[in-house]
Amino acid sequence: MNQNKTTASLNIYQVLPKVELHRHLEGSLRLATMLEIANQHGVTVPPRILDLSSLVQVQDEEPFTFTNFLEKFKTLRLFYRSPEVIDRITREAIEDAARDNVRYMELRFTPVALSRAEGFPLHDVMAWVCDSTRRAADEFGIRVRLIASVNRHESVELAEQVAWLAASHIKDGILGLDLAGNEAEFPAGPFEGIFKEARQSGLKTTIHAGEWGGAQNVGEAIQRFEADRIGHGVRVLEDPSVVALARERGTVFEVCITSNYQSGVVPALSAHPLTRMLQSGLDATLNTDDPSVSRITLTHEFKLAAEDLGLPFEVLKQRVLAAANAAFLPDDERRALVADLEGKLTLL
Ligand code: ADE
Ligand code: ZN
Repeated sequence: MNQNKTTASLNIYQVLPKVELHRHLEGSLRLATMLEIANQHGVTVPPRILDLSSLVQVQDEEPFTFTNFLEKFKTLRLFYRSPEVIDRITREAIEDAARDNVRYMELRFTPVALSRAEGFPLHDVMAWVCDSTRRAADEFGIRVRLIASVNRHESVELAEQVAWLAASHIKDGILGLDLAGNEAEFPAGPFEGIFKEARQSGLKTTIHAGEWGGAQNVGEAIQRFEADRIGHGVRVLEDPSVVALARERGTVFEVCITSNYQSGVVPALSAHPLTRMLQSGLDATLNTDDPSVSRITLTHEFKLAAEDLGLPFEVLKQRVLAAANAAFLPDDERRALVADLEGKLTLL
């Protein structure tokens, strides 16, 4: 009986057509695929799935800290061993999103991470991901666009190359540039020029800020970087003047509830500030961040928002539309996406 109830309530969130604006490809690898890649390419990892899981996925008994969270991505870099592997993980990430009834996704990927193990040229890696994305999106009937990510804790020179290459791939589906990585210990400042040039080249921008750093980082991302969207940004509530700024500018927040809990931003899921952000008039959307690292789906995050944070179903529907309205697509395509979702959501 209980089980039926759980299954039935999960289904409402599964049936809800969803939009994902913040998902990292490198945080979306299937565990079984990682084991196969390890066997094929001689990557030394623990042979048992449970032991591998503890290296690449956050476990309940681990410290919920950003250092532990970021550590998983170091291990994940061992797996990007061939163009076929990069094609496979891209295809599977898109298949998983489609099965979760995500109708539109902006998948972000970190070219420097994907190129590292074998020294692949950045332009090759970016062309492979664009190509795989187009094919998988067609195969699984989902719309997908890409965002190139660079990490604050890595080289500014490499970030500049990634930004330049991303701009040259806009026609191939790379619509934006993202600043990710260790916000607690590395400032965004050195990347400002790169983001300005990216904007001038026609890329949209999103910055991880107010996650492992304070509200001033959100203010900086909005004012100095003129970011179109903020990754996380939940600590904006610590400064009412930054809340006011974000509201005036209509800044969109890409909120990732479980990720925030697992990386130590909030002490409990029920303490997540999403509801307060919405009450403050902020434009917040729901996203996964790293579904495999966190062992979640977007459906799971919508269920959490409803059942643990108390958001009514109507508000969830509104947030799907808010995400569609904040897509980095050209205006006409974005309007068509919103209209399509409005039609589907009125039936629910
Ligand atoms: N890379 C992958 N997930 C991230 C996060 N939550 N914050 C910063 N960088 C990341
Ligand atoms: Zn992220």
